Amino acid sequence: MTEETNQERPENASDRIRKAFAVELDRFSDSPGSLKEAEKELRELQEVRIKFLGKKSELATQKKMIGSIEPKLRRDFALVFQSLEQDLTRTLNDKEQRLKTFILRAGIERDAIDVTIPGRRPRPGHLHPITLMRQRIEDIFVSLGYTVEDDREIETDFYNFDALNIPEGHPARDPQDTFYTTDGFALRSQTSTVQIHAMQRRGAPVRMIAPGRVFRRDTPDPTHNPMFYQVEGLCVDRGITMAHLKGTLDEFVHRLFGSTTKTRFRPSYFPFTEPSAEVDYSCFKCGGAGCRICKWSGWIELGGSGMVHPNVLRAANVDPEEFTGFAFGLGIDRTGARIYELDDIRLLFENDIRFLEQFK
Ligand code: DAH
Repeated sequence: MTEETNQERPENASDRIRKAFAVELDRFSDSPGSLKEAEKELRELQEVRIKFLGKKSELATQKKMIGSIEPKLRRDFALVFQSLEQDLTRTLNDKEQRLKTFILRAGIERDAIDVTIPGRRPRPGHLHPITLMRQRIEDIFVSLGYTVEDDREIETDFYNFDALNIPEGHPARDPQDTFYTTDGFALRSQTSTVQIHAMQRRGAPVRMIAPGRVFRRDTPDPTHNPMFYQVEGLCVDRGITMAHLKGTLDEFVHRLFGSTTKTRFRPSYFPFTEPSAEVDYSCFKCGGAGCRICKWSGWIELGGSGMVHPNVLRAANVDPEEFTGFAFGLGIDRTGARIYELDDIRLLFENDIRFLEQFK
């Protein structure tokens, strides 16, 4: 058989390596308890692979010696280490595969969506009742050829009063007392201010509405609030008459409340119109017979209106000899409060979700 050399028999070396390998592999669990543990084992397995099959492993050293083996023993020697290498590789691959499968499964489980957990439902908001009302009004006038103007809420006395034919000391300033800043500015008390801005910007002819907030020094009660919404209307052209005003507001109430709705004009006074009229519409609930909504009168007030005063046209550099026009001002929240049958207008400004939710 083999000649006595001081070289270790390949079977012995192989056995020794196998035993050392088995001891190392013993440290690994059969099935790891957690994803973390499995990941750690996978890393350690790589170290074992390098230790037993890497370039500096004993197996590699043995394989390098093959050249110095006696030719007749060389084949056996090679076979022993070849089979050792195959066995170790197979065992390591096997173990690695099992760990990887475990890691993959555990990862999927960790990232899985539990469809039984109650979801976080998005809560879409909705428009405020005043906005809904404003949009309905805008839609009607836009379809009649009006533009929608959005203008400033802080004004000078000129736009809020003087240009609207309300000079200083005029009693009409009184009911419209507003909030003043220290610099001679005031919060506008009416959207009529936009008549002047619009005519200065666009000249004549002009057809516009201006919805917006206005402010008055009023004590809040069920029908008053120091801040409320109006929509101003202005139509200036050659040959505009009161008939155009009546026709326009008729059309407006027909579209808003239904085609059987009637309007009536009551003579009134506004400094910026001459003649002036208060406009009412027949109650949309009872049709004029009288009910709680119209306070048993059959009519509901829409707002003020009239033919634009020549002084107002002049203040905005429009020639009253060439142009005439009509104007009107309606309360958005007041009209909304009627339609929604609110007993207290303040509900619209309290931000109470229980109230607002009803307008979804
Ligand atoms: N500005 C008036 C108010 O706040 C409403 C109004 C009346 C506007 C007549 C007009 C108008 O344009 O012609 O009470």
